[in-house]
Amino acid sequence: MPAIAFTAKNLSDTARHTTQCAIIPLASDGKLPGLGKLLDKTSTGLVKEAIKLGDFSGKEGQHQLLTLAGNPQRILLVGYGKPGSIDRKAIRSLCNTIYTALKPLNLKEATLHLNTVKLKAADRQWCLGFLARHITTANYRYQRTLSKPKKAAKLARLIVNVGNDIPVASANRALKTGKLVGEGVNSARELANLPGNICTPTYLASEARKLSRRSSKLSVSILDEKKMRELGMGALLSVSAGSQQEARLIVMNFKGGKAKDAPYVLVGKGITFDSGGISLKPGAKMDEMKFDMGGAASVFGTMQAVSELDLPINVIGIVAAAENMPSGTATKPGDVVTSMAGKTIEVLNTDAEGRLVLCDALTYARRFKPATVIDIATLTGACVVALGSHASALFTRDDALAQALLDAGEESHDRNWRMPLWDDYQRQINSNFADIANIGGPGGGSITAACFLSRFTEGLSWAHLDIAGSAWDSTPKGATGRPVAMLTQYLIDKTTAR
Ligand code: BES
Ligand code: MN
Ligand code: ZN
Repeated sequence: MPAIAFTAKNLSDTARHTTQCAIIPLASDGKLPGLGKLLDKTSTGLVKEAIKLGDFSGKEGQHQLLTLAGNPQRILLVGYGKPGSIDRKAIRSLCNTIYTALKPLNLKEATLHLNTVKLKAADRQWCLGFLARHITTANYRYQRTLSKPKKAAKLARLIVNVGNDIPVASANRALKTGKLVGEGVNSARELANLPGNICTPTYLASEARKLSRRSSKLSVSILDEKKMRELGMGALLSVSAGSQQEARLIVMNFKGGKAKDAPYVLVGKGITFDSGGISLKPGAKMDEMKFDMGGAASVFGTMQAVSELDLPINVIGIVAAAENMPSGTATKPGDVVTSMAGKTIEVLNTDAEGRLVLCDALTYARRFKPATVIDIATLTGACVVALGSHASALFTRDDALAQALLDAGEESHDRNWRMPLWDDYQRQINSNFADIANIGGPGGGSITAACFLSRFTEGLSWAHLDIAGSAWDSTPKGATGRPVAMLTQYLIDKTTAR
């Protein structure tokens, strides 16, 4: 997929800008805001006619193409509904309408006259960032294992006329940020969409090396099973024990800040296929367990965005990659394993494997003396029951970290919902035969999973994100790249005093 380039311009005083398509956002009040300066008399007349005939009302989601012989070659009317100052919800809808309308058109370039839309001062940068991110992600197509490519928009450049409302330089910065975040989201989607026979733990390790070659500030180290055994990562290794695929612990270290700055650490669950192991899953939708490395994919996508944005902070991405399979060498229900932290774990259900790989990765994270540690995992089916697909579940004891992640979720519209992590739930994971059991019984499954992780993160500023519901869609099937946008926003917020 060729990337779409975004360029902001101030075209408010010229009708002589040549374009294949002038995109004009309109409200549902039938008014034409200052088109005189953008379009000539004939074109303005055509727009008026389309409204008069009732072909276009400016209703939210509506779009209408007018073909001309001159310049512009086309006028694309896009509706955003309620007149007056536009809110963020309407902006998101407008961006969606613009992409939907542009996608089938045979054009290389288009000019969006955004200056005709009344934006609140606080939303101007945001709107441009969202526009570039949305169009970048909307134009992603999974191609890798298809013999015939899927159609994407032919568009190569979108010019955004911002008028005098916002300086062109800062508008271009916002567009660039949005595009880079969108590309991070797309990279996460691509990795998560890859089938389990391609995307193995060793494949993920090679992808990390590939990513590190894009920036001199990004270095990668890979721990193989031998190294993990030396470190005592018995919990992580118990998950890959039944698989022909060796586990990998992947560490991506981005040094954008000062050497003494404590890093922000992201830890991703990277189960490249989760069959359930000896506690085998039922057959229905089992293919979707290739997405069980969605947390890892989001760490990759965020590391890519952070390094492309060249953020002035230190960020470390850790991916615990393993395949969960049944075999004669697999871990069995009732087996007791010893984690790197020294705590013993009774594996009552081999399908509760995410917490087993994460606990050792979280223990490993301590050596970096992190400012914060955030793990991201498609951890529990119970999370999908609780929240569905719209929110990622957020667990943390740290109220400041919770607020920062909730804020980043709102800002990026990649939202989290805070769940309890009360001590009352802890006794559900007590075991008679080990320090901890890996399952907590029928009630509050996503909470007891978080409780399990909390036993390995004492003294850290730590948050857990259960993305079981948000990481992929089932119809049509595909990875969402969440929560790359939220995580990147969280890290961007660390670079600006807010
Ligand atoms: N990867 C799954 C969680 C999952 C299931 C995510 C369905 C999205 C959709 C995880 O490894 C798992 O199997 N969890 C078990 C835990 C249980 C055995 C305590 C679950 O949720 O059923
Ligand atoms: Mn499982
Ligand atoms: Zn899993």
